[in-house]
Amino acid sequence: EDENAKTAAAAGWPMLKGEYKTGSPDSCVAVVTCGSHLDDEALIEAGAGISGSCKTENLGIEKLVSHIISNPNIRFLIVAGAEVKGHITGEAILMLHQNGISKNRIVGAKGAIPYIENLSEEAVKRFMEQIECIDMINVEDIGEISAKIKECIANDPGAFPAEPMIQDVK
Ligand code: LMR
Repeated sequence: EDENAKTAAAAGWPMLKGEYKTGSPDSCVAVVTCGSHLDDEALIEAGAGISGSCKTENLGIEKLVSHIISNPNIRFLIVAGAEVKGHITGEAILMLHQNGISKNRIVGAKGAIPYIENLSEEAVKRFMEQIECIDMINVEDIGEISAKIKECIANDPGAFPAEPMIQDVK
C-alpha cells in the first residue's frame, strides 16, 4: 500500500465562506493564522492546502474543523498568527484538539464564548484523530511558517483512512 496515498476531499471542498485561500486539496497541511491577515498566497505557495484567519472561538472554529474533517488528506494544522484578544481563539483550537468538548464547551479554553454548537461529538473526535496540531501562536513570519509547512509535507503520513465528514455549519 502507498503510504502517501491520497483520497478525494468532499465535493466542492472547501464548502464554507470565510477569509482563506486554497491550494491543492491533496496537501496534508492547513494553516490557521488566527487574528492575523498574513500572506495566505505565500503559504499556499509553500505547500499548504488551505490558509486563512479565524477570529472567533465558536463559529470560526466550527468552520475550521468542518473544512479539515471534510478533507482526509489534511493531517497537520499549523496554528499561527496573532492570538485573538478576548476570544483567545488560537488556544481554544489547541484545547479543542487536546481535550475535546464537554456540554458543548471546549474543555480548558479561557476565551469568552468557547461553545461548539454545530459540530457533532463524532466530528470533534474525528478532528482530534485526523490531525496533529502545531503550536505557532504569535508567529507571523512567513519564512518560519513556510519552513514548518515543508517539514509537515516531508512527514506526510497519507490520507486519514476514513470518508470525508460533512457538518452542517452555517
Ligand atoms: C471567524 O471567527 O473568523 C468567523 O466567525 C468568521 C465567519 O466566517 O463567520
